[in-house]
Amino acid sequence: MNAPAEAPLYVQPFGEALLQGLRRQPRAVPPKYFYDAAGSALFERICALPEYYPTRTEIGLLQRHAREMAECIGPAADLVEFGAGAQRKIRLLLAALARPARYVPVDVSAQHLHAHARALAAELPALVVLPWVADFSAELVLPQPPPGARRRVGFFPGSSIGNFTPEEAVQFLRRCAVALAGGGLLVGVDLVKDPAVLHRAYNDAAGVTAAFNKNLLARANRELGARFDLDGYFHHAHYDPRAQRIEMHLVSARRQQVLVCGERFGFDEGDALHTEHSCKYTVPGFQRLAREAGLQPQAVWCDDAAWFSVHWLAAPPV
Ligand code: AVI
Repeated sequence: MNAPAEAPLYVQPFGEALLQGLRRQPRAVPPKYFYDAAGSALFERICALPEYYPTRTEIGLLQRHAREMAECIGPAADLVEFGAGAQRKIRLLLAALARPARYVPVDVSAQHLHAHARALAAELPALVVLPWVADFSAELVLPQPPPGARRRVGFFPGSSIGNFTPEEAVQFLRRCAVALAGGGLLVGVDLVKDPAVLHRAYNDAAGVTAAFNKNLLARANRELGARFDLDGYFHHAHYDPRAQRIEMHLVSARRQQVLVCGERFGFDEGDALHTEHSCKYTVPGFQRLAREAGLQPQAVWCDDAAWFSVHWLAAPPV
């Protein structure tokens, strides 16, 4: 049976978020929508760029301090990773852990999550791997711990916490304080530094970050039948020292209109769609945020240049 003409168009969650983001002023779309298959592949390329220091710096910290981190985590932990992309990072941590009870990668993208979980389970047959499809930026419902697990511990690498506003970060950390009670959270946090270093990291010479940013429009064209002219927008990333964050935008190169899910949106030359902010913290600033959320900062590891930090935050007792 055909749907009546006046029936509302069924719009996918990405479509709903994009429509809402285009209707408001200033225009903005949450950064989680970057990560379809193409966006995830582009992000992996970003991680390997010479300008993008966070990945290799955090890996260096894990290589150097995994033993100490494992001591904080303790034996027989039920290890929950938020986001399922950091393949090398979880392997470094797992190699140092004493008899982890289980590994639960959590991600919104089921396809990416299951591929990641299958690869890890094949490599480490003794490890129980339970992929868990969920949007951890919205709520934190986790599977019951397995028998024999002593505590639940979260792992949130990559400074993805910086893609939340500080208010959203506190809300997320509060949810962690409840969900990880009796355990804790190991979290990677990018630090405030020379703006020139930050500028280079988000404006790489090869244009991969620009392609990652524009993939949002390409995704809208692929999934929603939108008609964004990809050459009609350019990538813009700048550091705001007051807010201590990189802001990424897609800026219209000319006056134009675009049709998204049957709705028309006008852009003047220079009009921007805000696609991401990447907050940078000082170590004491991040520790304050953690305390505000009910977590207790107990250890922090930084590289020699103090560009990146990994924090162990203890959750309250059960
Ligand atoms: C995933 N996240 C921590 C990255 C960041 O640095 O904020 C995403 C990214 N955006 C542009 N380059 C990398």
